[in-house]
Amino acid sequence: MADTITIIDDRTGKKVTVAITGGTFPSSALRELDPNLFLYDPAFLSTASCASAITYLDGDAGILRYRGYPIEQLAEHSTFLEVAYLLLNGELPTGDQLSKWTHDVTHHTMIHENMRKRFVDGFHYDAHPMGMFVSATAALGTFYDDAKDIFDKQSFDKQVLRLIAKVPTIAAMCYRFSEGLPFVLPNNSMPYAQNFLNMMFRIGEDHAIDPVLARAMDILFILHADHEQNCGTTTMRVVSSANSDPYTSTAAAASALYGPLHGGANEAVVRMLSEIGSIENVPSFIEGVKNGSGRLMGFGHRVYKNFDPRARIIKQTAYDVFEVTGKNPLLDIALKLEEVALEDDYFVKRKLYPNVDFYSGLIYQALGFPVDMFTVLFAIPRTVGWLAHMEELLGDKEQKISRPRQWYIGPDERDYTAINKR
Ligand code: ACO
Repeated sequence: MADTITIIDDRTGKKVTVAITGGTFPSSALRELDPNLFLYDPAFLSTASCASAITYLDGDAGILRYRGYPIEQLAEHSTFLEVAYLLLNGELPTGDQLSKWTHDVTHHTMIHENMRKRFVDGFHYDAHPMGMFVSATAALGTFYDDAKDIFDKQSFDKQVLRLIAKVPTIAAMCYRFSEGLPFVLPNNSMPYAQNFLNMMFRIGEDHAIDPVLARAMDILFILHADHEQNCGTTTMRVVSSANSDPYTSTAAAASALYGPLHGGANEAVVRMLSEIGSIENVPSFIEGVKNGSGRLMGFGHRVYKNFDPRARIIKQTAYDVFEVTGKNPLLDIALKLEEVALEDDYFVKRKLYPNVDFYSGLIYQALGFPVDMFTVLFAIPRTVGWLAHMEELLGDKEQKISRPRQWYIGPDERDYTAINKR
């Protein structure tokens, strides 16, 4: 069987045959039939906008791999900084490479004092931390002259290092501001996730971070580090394609993540569970969803139509965390919702399963994070994926500035009418 596809334009009888490679064919072939013919694909449901070697995802089989490594193995054996190195460089680091990378990230965690004193202090007292995070990430780039030298490899790598090192500091700073708590400086002797938890929650001198909780945070960071062409990563690519600097591109991607259908879903899950209030209310809530009065947040995924492998790992991590913190009272409602939904025809038919956000919010809450911080916790590790995609895009000779076409459906030409004649 030939690995080709033949498209016939029935209006003219012209046909074109093109190769199918990796399950795709170049849609530019259509232009050979008619230069004004375009694919109409709202929300990119059937369009691959790039070739990528970073993350492999098979939604039907529930497979997620970073650079070929199954997410389950990385979550069990690796650390977030090792995974970050893998995503950015394509290979797992040697011992020396990992030590240098860890040292470099650890020693770039500080941010300029003006960021806190002038920039963050300017926010209203109840500003949403994700809004602050988005703005602060964009602002951070203004502190570095070399931020825009994106085609100088050394300079680009420096910005990558700065961003990955500083996003936890920014995130913690936004939280401490909103709580009216003094800012905690990064501690260079602590690993990445532990240092973040320390900057978030340290009160007084003898505040210790439980290693089980630090490991859970690290696993959550691993699971969220990349997920190929989702809304945020596509935004990163689109903005980077205009050769914007890594800070503003990251802020744009984080803005996409802020939306409740994307990274804001875990926040929505906890709010939903709190509103449901008790197990007895689960069946009526599910009926309401089926009757169109809202969605079951944390369920469904554009790509995963069987199960989300990250959701399975997170469920296990939730139990590890609850051993230390005590059970989140919302867990029982979540388990009941999952049980009822997985047996209900509405959800089964539409292939709706728990996604990564269904249980992550419960863990975050048990760790002590306020609901407003949940999307920020997603943005920290995803910064790695965004930057890996930006670098890949900049090195891809097939890419240009992103500029999709549209199907115009507005009025034909008409004459301007004076205001007193309308
Ligand atoms: N609850 C109830 N019904 C749902 C849900 C849900 N969570 N998700 C999808 N559906 C229904 C839709 O109403 C639709 O039904 P219909 O065919 O009768 O009209 C059908 O399932 C298909 O839904 P779409 O919206 O077309 O699916 P899409 O792939 O566009 O959406 C999405 C995926 C946005 C994730 C969706 O499932 C959703 O809104 N889920 C809840 C929010 C959520 O958890 N988001 C996190 C996603 S993971 C992440 O971003 C990290």
